[in-house]
Amino acid sequence: MTKQLTNLALALVFVVIGLGALTRLLDAGLGCPDWPGCYGFLTPPNQPEHIELAEELYPNTPVVRHQAWMEMVHRYAAGTLGLLIFAITLRLYRTNKKSSTLSQATVIATVLSMVVIVQAAFGMWTVTLKLWPPIVTLHLLGGLITFGLLIVLRFLLQQPEITDRNQITKERNHGSPSHQTLKRLAVSALLVVFLQITLGAWTSSNYAGLACPDFPTCQNQWFEQVSIQKALSIPSYDNLSFLHGRTDAQTRVSIQVLHRLGAVITLIIVGVFLIQFLRSQHPYRKQIALVTSTLLVLQIVLGILTAVLLLPLTLALLHNLVAALLFGSLITANLLVAHSQTVPLVERTELTGIPETHTVGMTKEIQDGNIITHNS
Ligand code: HEM
Repeated sequence: MTKQLTNLALALVFVVIGLGALTRLLDAGLGCPDWPGCYGFLTPPNQPEHIELAEELYPNTPVVRHQAWMEMVHRYAAGTLGLLIFAITLRLYRTNKKSSTLSQATVIATVLSMVVIVQAAFGMWTVTLKLWPPIVTLHLLGGLITFGLLIVLRFLLQQPEITDRNQITKERNHGSPSHQTLKRLAVSALLVVFLQITLGAWTSSNYAGLACPDFPTCQNQWFEQVSIQKALSIPSYDNLSFLHGRTDAQTRVSIQVLHRLGAVITLIIVGVFLIQFLRSQHPYRKQIALVTSTLLVLQIVLGILTAVLLLPLTLALLHNLVAALLFGSLITANLLVAHSQTVPLVERTELTGIPETHTVGMTKEIQDGNIITHNS
């Protein structure tokens, strides 16, 4: 049951991420000027007398019904997700911890519950601080972290005995240099994608998406206008709305060019990881390399099209969702790399029962409590 609830939460978090992007793209981030209600109501005001009352309360923010609904649908979905995560955590606390993996799952679920609370606070500040870019960026990253933690939780819940038994193998194989290198590359690939998503969120929250209608140049220039300092400077908060952005043209150009440069670095680092991964003996190397490289290329193509076609809604939404999937695929890659290792020669006979001479170049994996060997 906990597994099914986690599957549901994974599907829902993806929907919530998409709804969050839609809310921003439809300029509905301030569709309800208060939080958690909407103009003081549980649902957006629909009746003329309610609308009148709402506009009396918030005279500077007239009710735009579709924007208010967009914002509230995002909040309802996020609220349901929060409740689901609390229910999963509660169930895990009540479960008899037969394995250390279940204890790890409980820790992850607890962290997830805390992230959900912080995320709700960021959702509130997004509205009350009137789309101040640092908060909007952190709110997007919070959604991504929720997604990533749910993937980790699902992995831990899959077959607790696998990870427990691999832990033993991990300690035995601690010195394996190629495995260590692969692990470092996997972590670097994940980190660079996270930073690139941060730059992407910074681009959208500063409304720098329309700053460069050409590619690969920006406003027919390469780096002449670019100022890294301006791109990374945090706009001061002064109680005025940041809807449609308030940074100057040079800053917007700098932000988008930085995001584009980030894509080149991401391509290189994730590419190096995938090449090394393909050369490893990992049983899932082909699937992971195929999924991750497809998502990476798709993401870059979507980014370019989003910029040159001046932010069509569907492409901008897909650019957000594929970013989450890319992050998710790299989390999965990291989990698989961390939990499956090549067994040293001396231990192969012991584990597989196959004579040493027949096990050279084999990779061991444990499935359903059985040891499975793969040829490299
Ligand atoms: C691995 C590569 C990339 C990743 C992970 C990535 C990720 C992101 C993310 C997460 C956002 C924020 C979306 C949102 O708030 O809804 C974004 C925005 C954006 N990205 Fe990328 N991006 C990548 C490559 C590119 C490239 C190559 C370009 C263009 C040449 C590009 C252009 C844009 C633009 C224009 C926006 C602003 C969209 C908006 O305002 O809605 N991206 N990116």
